[in-house]
Parts: sequence; C-alpha cells; structure tokens
Amino acid sequence: MNVNIEKQTKPLLGEMVVPGDKSISHRSIMLGAIAKGTTSITNFLKGADCIATIDCFRQMGVTIEERNDIITVTGGGLRGLKQPVGILEVGNSGTTTRLLSGILCGQNFKSILSGDASLNKRPMNRIINPLSQMGGDIVSIKKNGCAPLEINAAKLHGIDYLSKVSSAQVKSAVLLAGLYADAPTSVTEKVLSRNHTEIMLKAFGGNVSTEDTYDGTTISVTPADELYASEIDVPGDISSAAYFIAAALLIPGSELLIKNVGINDTRAGFLQAVLKMGGDLTLLNALTSGGEAKADILVRHSKLKGTTIGGKLIPSLIDEIPILAVLAAYAEGETVIKDAAELKVKETNRIDTVCDNLKNMGAFVTPTEDGMIITGKEAGLTGAVIDPKFDHRIAMAFSIAGLIAKGETTIKDGHCVDVSFPEFFTYFKQ
Ligand code: S3P
Repeated sequence: MNVNIEKQTKPLLGEMVVPGDKSISHRSIMLGAIAKGTTSITNFLKGADCIATIDCFRQMGVTIEERNDIITVTGGGLRGLKQPVGILEVGNSGTTTRLLSGILCGQNFKSILSGDASLNKRPMNRIINPLSQMGGDIVSIKKNGCAPLEINAAKLHGIDYLSKVSSAQVKSAVLLAGLYADAPTSVTEKVLSRNHTEIMLKAFGGNVSTEDTYDGTTISVTPADELYASEIDVPGDISSAAYFIAAALLIPGSELLIKNVGINDTRAGFLQAVLKMGGDLTLLNALTSGGEAKADILVRHSKLKGTTIGGKLIPSLIDEIPILAVLAAYAEGETVIKDAAELKVKETNRIDTVCDNLKNMGAFVTPTEDGMIITGKEAGLTGAVIDPKFDHRIAMAFSIAGLIAKGETTIKDGHCVDVSFPEFFTYFKQ
C-alpha cells in the first residue's frame, strides 16, 4: 500500500490520544502468562508485534481473551506453560523474541522461535551469550547468531551480568530467566535502559531491586516461587506521540494536547531533546500509576534550533531518532546525533534508512559511524518517494516530513506501520 501525502498548511489544533505503549503491552501479556490467576489489561496496543506475543503464549496453552477492549490473560503460574506444537512465530518483533527467549530458557520443554526476514537478521548473540552463561540451552539454528533459535530444557544458575549495550531487551531476557534460576541474578548497564520490566515485575509480586553502582545501574532479581496476576493500565506510547508532537512543532499555528502519554524517565528522552531544540512543550496532569509516570503533553508550533543528542540520553530516545532527524532537518543550524550505533541493528539500519530518505527529500545530512549530522535547511524539504524498507518508524517519521515538505510525498508499503501503530494513517488524516 503506497500512501500519498500533501503539504499541510492548516494548523493542528485540538486534543488526541495515542494507542497504548508497545513495550508495556508486550510485558503485560508475558508476565500475565507466567503468573497465577487472571490479569486484566486496559489500553493494550493491538499492533502486529504485540499480537505476535499473544499468539506465542496462546500456543503454549495460555488463555488470552478480549472483551469490551479489556484483555484478560489467565496464566497457570511460573511453571504452567505447555510445549508449543509448532514454531513460535515472532514476526517483526525483537521484543517478543528476546524477552520470550529468557522465559523459554527456564521451561522444561523444547521450543523454536522464528521471525520475518528482518527479524531473522537481527543480532541474537546479545541474549544467547548471557542466557548460555546461566546454563540455558539456546542456539541459533543457522549458527549465524540470529533467529531461528532453538531452546531446550536446562537448569539455570544465577549470574551477575555486565551488559555491553544499554538494551532493555537484553536486560529483560536475563531478568526473566533469573526468575527460574537457582540463585539471584543481576544485570548491570552503563546507562539504565527502559525499566518497564522491573516496574511490572514488582506489580506481579517479583523481588526486583535497582541500585547505582560503580559500573552504572545494577538490577537484581531473586528466583520466584510464583508471580501473581495484576491489573495493568497501559499508558499511551510516547514513541507514537512523538510523530504528532513533531507535526505540531513544525506546522505554524499548531497547538495540540496529547493526553495520557507514558513519560517514564527511561523513555522520555525525546521530550528533553525537543526542549533542547527550543520546542514549546508543557506537561499537564502528571501522575504515576502502577509505577509508570504519565502526563498530558501540550505542544505548540516552535522555531527549532540544532543541538547535540548523545551520551546518556540515547537509550531513552533510541526509537525516536528517525523523527528527531526530521525535526533537525527543519531546525536552524547543525544537529549532531552520536553514540547511537544501536540504530544499525533495529528493524532496518536506521542510520542508512534515515539518511538516504532525508537526502531524497533534499536535506543536508551526513551519516556517521554512530549517528548522523544534519544541517537544517531554511528552504525546507521537497516531497519524494520514501522507501521505509518495511520499518514502521521510518514510514511514520517520513509521513510527518511529507506533511511539511513542498509537493507530494509517497510512502511505499505504508502498511508496515501496523507493527506499532495500526491506526496511524487514520489519525494522520484526522
Ligand atoms: C524495547 C527496547 C528497545 C527498543 C524496542 C523496544 C523493549 O530495544 O528499541 O523498540 O520493549 O524492551 P533495545 O532494548 O534493543 O534497545
């Protein structure tokens, strides 16, 4: 499906909500599935990635139902999963693959996980190594460090793991396996990655602690006898809100209120980056519920200036770099994005897909080893044919670029947004 986008001159005015957070939605199914009792989830994100997680647990005998927009997950406890009959299909979802692998290493049955062409090229040694150190029996079937992965029954030991990357998927895989180990497990990260697993594990009765250490932040979990069902209200996804925040910043006269957005510190780096660029953002009605911070975000059209985005900020905005790059192309002066080599191993190599598509639209951009340098262009961007290479975040970021570019922009394979925001183009038209 190709989507054509025309320049938008009318300001964005009014209020909106965005769908539930993808990371939190995945975790609510996973923890519900290994807890005793029935977990109920509101504002669950029905994107393709989270549906893949649901399908995997259904294959392992977990009852997951939907009624009146509430998802219920009836788990049989920590050892209640059943051996899947077929391959666990994870689609495009790195979160499903890595977190689920942690859980599967603790089971007493064999399982195989496999995804689509993009997923099966993404690096899995980052979880295979620590899970193997714990005694897990997990191998890359093609011996290329990627999925498909085969996991067999094994006894797990607690380990203290110093993670090379600040990755919540790696951290969560190890912590979830730690629930099944014979002694406590810890993961240390130089910069704390998104902490939704830690927050939610506590809500399910898990024993998790976080402390600042010499090497960064250490998260520890003790083996659990059982987790217990909980009620989860998923906040709006800041990664989805980011596209509309960007649109309102760029379109003159805009004033938009996006309600009930998750602003957990480990996720909200995008807001900090926008403030550094001179964006007019105000947080209203801030509160914490179920351990997760949320607020309404009021955004007004702003004249942006270039900045440097790097260091500790990167893990908290890694998924928002494509849309930040679009903002940078309209900002005055130079924006340097650095320390973000992880972009190369996302759904696409996002250094390449962002730079290639920005260049197509006439932007001044230079890719670097760990990011990119963008010089804002007063004359603005020009519409172009955008190939997102089936990467949802590239398709959405360049849809916003198309809204303000001169002429027409065509987004190829627009349906790839289904992964995290199936209604994106409906919201977009509204
Ligand atoms: C996610 C963590 C991040 C992020 C991804 C979702 C999660 O990946 O990019 O979209 O839900 O844990 P890494 O942990 O690999 O950085």
